Amino acid sequence: MHRLTVFGVTGRMGQAVLRAVREGGEFALAGAVASEHSASLGRDAVLDGPPCGVRVSADAAAALAGVAVALDFSAAPAVAGHAAACAAAGVPLVVGTTGLDPGTVEVLREAAARIALLVAPNTSIGVNLLERLTAIAARSLGDAFDVEILEAHHRAKRDAPSGTAIRLGEAVAAARGEPLAVHAEFDRHGDVGPRRAGAIGFAVVRGGDVVGEHTVLFAGDGERIELTHRATDRMIFARGALRAAAWIVGRAPGFYRMQDVLGL
Ligand SMILES: NC(=O)c1ccc[n+]([C@@H]2O[C@H](COP(=O)([O-])OP(=O)(O)OC[C@H]3O[C@@H](n4cnc5c(N)ncnc54)[C@H](OP(=O)(O)O)[C@@H]3O)[C@@H](O)[C@H]2O)c1
Repeated sequence: MHRLTVFGVTGRMGQAVLRAVREGGEFALAGAVASEHSASLGRDAVLDGPPCGVRVSADAAAALAGVAVALDFSAAPAVAGHAAACAAAGVPLVVGTTGLDPGTVEVLREAAARIALLVAPNTSIGVNLLERLTAIAARSLGDAFDVEILEAHHRAKRDAPSGTAIRLGEAVAAARGEPLAVHAEFDRHGDVGPRRAGAIGFAVVRGGDVVGEHTVLFAGDGERIELTHRATDRMIFARGALRAAAWIVGRAPGFYRMQDVLGL
């Protein structure tokens, strides 16, 4: 049984992780962290079910005492602080939070010199397979096919395009041997002119309770290939995150990805 700390425990994903912990049996919740402004500070970490006996706190260091692994599904600006606290405590960390800025990624790389750290903007097995299939398709189809990446999420999602959409774009760019930044087109409005050769376009839909949908569209002359993943239940992300957390316990310091967990 691994003792686990969850950052962002009061959120949609944090609560899904607690449900996955209850259905699993491999983890025991030991630390539950939210922001210092959280309305749930001092409450039981399970907000919508039988209490688990662990209270919500804003003290990351105290919540990490004696735990085997930590999971972060909080907010992008909080991630650097959580990673630094994990590095100081020697606790491996799985980061599921998306929208990380370059400064945060740098802090994560520094932390990965001291602890095992896995960054997974999408912890679903299906999406990670989609990323692999996207790389294969991009390599096979080459420049003759235009690539567009479409994603849809619920109305509360803060970052856009999703971390997963960007990761899919990176998979296409890497298959072509180029950085995504050179070819990404995030905004199209007004007289934008014809499509730029080699562009990787992004389209974003926000609304309702959509859990997460991603399509990679390869549009050629006379034919089109669409690779799509639809998430209908965020428990897939929670179960995948626990699978990553179990995998990272006892690993050497380093920077890992979900592909390492799944052997993709
Ligand atoms: N990797 C994946 O597969 C995957 C899947 C789904 C979502 N996500 C990502 O996971 C993250 C969370 O998503 P969500 O839908 O669960 O969001 P959410 O419902 O808004 O929950 C955010 C959580 O973070 C906490 N929080 C906010 N600011 C914080 C801070 N400064 N310090 C510590 N905790 C803080 C919030 O606590 P209080 O408000 O109570 O303080 C809350 O518990 C997002 O980045 C999302 O894109 C990843």
